[in-house]
Amino acid sequence: MFVCICQAVSDQDIRRAVAGGARSFEDVQTHTGCTTCCGCCEAEARELVQTTLESERRVVALPVAA
Ligand code: FES
Repeated sequence: MFVCICQAVSDQDIRRAVAGGARSFEDVQTHTGCTTCCGCCEAEARELVQTTLESERRVVALPVAA
């Protein structure tokens, strides 16, 4: 699903950017170009970045079985 129509950035592109090391909305914006045209996708993009970062933190915080 496209989040940013202007720059053809999908939800998967945003998740990939976070998986690839983006640690903020601004990082994702730099990596994907998302929100850099009309800006009407910003609220949805910010929310997706936030939830993706939170999901990664939960995965990282899981205990490792010995
Ligand atoms: S829809 Fe994302 S910048 Fe226009």
